[in-house]
Amino acid sequence: MTMQQALAENNFTPFPGISAQVYSRKDFEAVRDIVYDIAGIVLPPGKATLVYSRLAPLVRESGQQTFARYIDMIRKDDGERRKTINALTTNHTFFYRESHHFEHLANVTRPMLMAKAKAGKPVRIWSAGCSTGEELYSLAMTLLGPDKREARAFLDKDVMILATDLADHAVAGAKAARYPYEALKDVPPDLVRTWVKKVDDEAHIAPELCGMIRVKRLNLLGPWPMQRGFDVIFCRNVMIYFDQPTKDRLVARFADQLLPGGHLYIGHSERVGGDAQNIMSLVGSTIYRKGKA
Ligand SMILES: C[S@@+](CC[C@H](N)C(=O)[O-])C[C@H]1O[C@@H](n2cnc3c(N)ncnc32)[C@H](O)[C@@H]1O
Repeated sequence: MTMQQALAENNFTPFPGISAQVYSRKDFEAVRDIVYDIAGIVLPPGKATLVYSRLAPLVRESGQQTFARYIDMIRKDDGERRKTINALTTNHTFFYRESHHFEHLANVTRPMLMAKAKAGKPVRIWSAGCSTGEELYSLAMTLLGPDKREARAFLDKDVMILATDLADHAVAGAKAARYPYEALKDVPPDLVRTWVKKVDDEAHIAPELCGMIRVKRLNLLGPWPMQRGFDVIFCRNVMIYFDQPTKDRLVARFADQLLPGGHLYIGHSERVGGDAQNIMSLVGSTIYRKGKA
């Protein structure tokens, strides 16, 4: 049996021009296991090409000749392992994605949060798996609304939006709060007028709004250092990369972090399963409220 046949038989398609000595099925599986153990991200065999193309530049940069050597290196070197994980996250996102969530936030959740803020109670929101911040700023603009004077009800009070992601480049992008102006095309124009400054072809998010935001690196699978008591959690299009036990554990932890009556917004293909089903009620399309209906 040729090497090519052996690889094909193992459901692993070798890449034209790439020797199995450089990148083999065993290498793919080793990377798959490392990424799963650290980040919970599932890489099925069909992602072998993606793993190659995302990691080949890192392998080259590291000076290693083969993936096997590079894998030995990432087992020992925390910094290099972190680069590998960064490279294998998928950070696709855009402003006002799944707009019905922002409509619900504006019409249902926001009035409750405004009453809370006006009463001097803390308001806490979390964008978990925020990627480069498009979700975060869509959320923040929606919360503040188009009227700057009305927004003082939040800005002058104890209101904080936490945004977290595992990938360093995503966290850096979210902190920078600058986007191509064109990227805001789906955001309601009155929100853009109030909270965004156009500088050449760039959108700069207003510093006032950024003042209520904290962006941090956080692995959702690890410990969560923040206190419980969130009013709203957005975790959208993150759990699609996880297997069912990881999803169920994560949703149960989100439910635990929410205040009674708090809202959880998840991605269009996701759902609340496991134990959390007993304490979360579906109140809209992929929108859950803590408490039984
Ligand atoms: C496809 S993006 C979703 C962004 C945004 N929530 C949205 O819906 O547009 C998924 C994000 O989840 C992050 N992610 C994946 N695994 C993670 C983990 N274990 N902990 C924290 N973030 C993770 C990735 O880095 C990526 O930025």
